Amino acid sequence: MPTKHPHRIRVCFGRTCGPKCAGQIEDALKQYRDEHPEKNLTQEKQFCFGYCKDANNVSIDDKLYSFQTPEKIIQTLRKIDDGESPPHRALEDLTDESLDKLMEI
Ligand code: FES
Repeated sequence: MPTKHPHRIRVCFGRTCGPKCAGQIEDALKQYRDEHPEKNLTQEKQFCFGYCKDANNVSIDDKLYSFQTPEKIIQTLRKIDDGESPPHRALEDLTDESLDKLMEI
């Protein structure tokens, strides 16, 4: 079933998340996007969300999903599209401006 709106996905490539499995997560998401063009997913890189101890972190829209792996992020996306709410943090307190500041740390 197509989603009502495109999901904005940001994969953390910060100092902790990057070396773990950010590249593999990015590849898994790219493959999923290629297989499901109808979902209109947008994918970006993020440099730290401030929750490094919970790496790997990936945001989808206004929510942050921690402890992600390439397999888990696809499961997370499927759950969201099925109307479930996997464990997450709200990102509403992290504005684009504060995320830019985190990038400078
Ligand atoms: S490096 Fe990913 S949250 Fe900090």
